[in-house]
Amino acid sequence: MGNIVLLDDLTINKIAAGEVIERPLNVVKEVVENSIDAGATQIIIEIKKGGKQLIKVIDNGKGIKKDDMELSLERHATSKIRKVEDLEHTYSMGFRGEALASIVSVSKLTMISRTKEDDYGTKLIAEAGNILEAEEVGAQIGTTIIVENLFFNVPVRYKFLKQDATEFKYIKEWVQKEAFANPSVSFKLINEGKTVFQSSGNGNIEDIVYSIYGKDIKENIVKVNYEEDNIKVTGVIGNTTIARDTRKGQIIFLNRRNIKNQILTNSADQAFKGSTGIGKYGFFILNLEMPANYYDINVHPTKMEVRFADENKIYKIFYHAIKNAILSKEFLGNAETETHNEEYIENEFEFLTNHFENETKSNNEQQSNNDSKVLQQNIKQESSNIEGKKYGIAERLINPKGINSSGNLLEKDLKNSSELIRREEKRKVDYKYIGILFRTYIIAEIGNEIYLIDQHAAHERLLYEQIKENYKNNISSNSQMMLVPEVFNLTHKEIEFVKKNIELFQNYGFDIELFGDKAVKVNGVPDIEYRSKSKNVFLEVLDEMITNERSSMKDVEERFVATVACKAAVKANMDLTPQEVEYLIQNLLTLKNPYTCPHGRPTTIKFSKDDFGKLKS
Ligand SMILES: Nc1ncnc2c1ncn2[C@@H]1O[C@H](COP(=O)(O)OP(=O)(O)OP(=O)(O)O)[C@@H](O)[C@H]1O
Ligand SMILES: [Mg+2]
Repeated sequence: MGNIVLLDDLTINKIAAGEVIERPLNVVKEVVENSIDAGATQIIIEIKKGGKQLIKVIDNGKGIKKDDMELSLERHATSKIRKVEDLEHTYSMGFRGEALASIVSVSKLTMISRTKEDDYGTKLIAEAGNILEAEEVGAQIGTTIIVENLFFNVPVRYKFLKQDATEFKYIKEWVQKEAFANPSVSFKLINEGKTVFQSSGNGNIEDIVYSIYGKDIKENIVKVNYEEDNIKVTGVIGNTTIARDTRKGQIIFLNRRNIKNQILTNSADQAFKGSTGIGKYGFFILNLEMPANYYDINVHPTKMEVRFADENKIYKIFYHAIKNAILSKEFLGNAETETHNEEYIENEFEFLTNHFENETKSNNEQQSNNDSKVLQQNIKQESSNIEGKKYGIAERLINPKGINSSGNLLEKDLKNSSELIRREEKRKVDYKYIGILFRTYIIAEIGNEIYLIDQHAAHERLLYEQIKENYKNNISSNSQMMLVPEVFNLTHKEIEFVKKNIELFQNYGFDIELFGDKAVKVNGVPDIEYRSKSKNVFLEVLDEMITNERSSMKDVEERFVATVACKAAVKANMDLTPQEVEYLIQNLLTLKNPYTCPHGRPTTIKFSKDDFGKLKS
């Protein structure tokens, strides 16, 4: 006799359970998803000892027919599909017909169910895959599933479970997510006899945000409602103040199923760029609705992974949905709705995708790229040969963007200041300038509100946008030439950094070249207005980039642009003239995202007249 044998059913199911049922959370997930598939509008979940001792789920769904009860515990028994092609138009959470079979193979399971056609319910008790009892009972319409002694027959798995509190925490977080995905279903989660979470099922996702995250977060979210090409994106996103250090505040559902997907998170990162602060992740809870044939969810038994048929399309639509919502927020007493958001987003997106393609261009394409670089170089050469022009640029450096010798911004330049403003709808805001507090905060009255604008943060945001804008519009000439190029001797570490990131410097306006092994020659700096000595900006940026190199490897480009902006910007305790204040306020307001500096600090705090009214009482 050979060595190969066929495994018995229980063994097969226990092995299968290993894939799906790793911990109590997975049981809760499978059972609750069945309730949702059954059309339940009320689901009560009761947990004891982190789910190790008891998981009980009661739903008011359509129930299971008496004759189907035993069958539902069999492997590959499902009422949801008949053949694999059905998946192309199946929207149920389950379809593999193996969850209950897996659960019953590693626990004691009691199932009570009644459909509206039956007068009685049926109760079934099974353990380790064997039916122990089946009887008629009185029951409400719906299904109750009780799972006890999980993993009693798989000690290895039991041993790896965490403490009850931790296991419960996983369950709670999942149930709360599920409440977001199904705002019209009322969930109640009970732990050791106490209700710890409850959702009303009134369909309002903001109410759920409030009950889970509290008032602070609720006040800082914006609704998302976007539709394109049969794909609908709904939910909420958070503004800058609630961006986080981790991705914990990012939840995605696909047709109400919680998924993880790199394409979508990348798309969100790009959409949030510049609005969250460097290295922070935007907050969002979003559901994508689309025809089931746009994707394949049957990648892994847990159904967390998904493959999209058209990844580019999904990437683009998700980006647009988020960006639209970010821009819909009103700011600085200006309730006017923006009219040019569409165009702006399209433009940003195009830049993003071209930029991305440039980075991944294949070698032969690189060649033609090089050709155009040579061309750009020639143009640069030519223009710097024209004496007058050279002087013009140089003068601007000493007197950049109209800052006169006493360091003030000239009024004539306020009008034609930047490309950025040209492209955007300029909205002039009427404000009353009150003064400057602590030589740092500009106080302005607009409508019924008082604004405190942090001069450094505001200027930093402005410059950040300008540097990016310069790059987008004019890669070949976004530098201001120095009258006399400066040669800096650098340390080994600094030289290495410059070598590694030379393109970054050049892309964003530093016209630099390596000068021997130990020095860098700076011919030009980014074409923006400087309030600190522009010649020092190169060294300051280099220093800061190196200091923080280890702590944040990602987002180097973002950090770089933000650092340049920070170093060039007006600082706290620098005196500003009323003209400079005018320049800052008006330009800040033309930005699509004026709320924070690129590092995430708020540029502005506002108080309403009502806030002052409260002082009286
Ligand atoms: N709460 C419930 N209400 C109504 N029917 C249920 C419920 N739970 C399970 N069922 C029935 O039992 C069947 C088996 O459930 P099971 O979870 O094992 O498989 P599935 O949901 O079809 O697929 P998957 O393994 O992907 O979850 C379901 O197809 C459904 O018909
Ligand atoms: Mg199921």
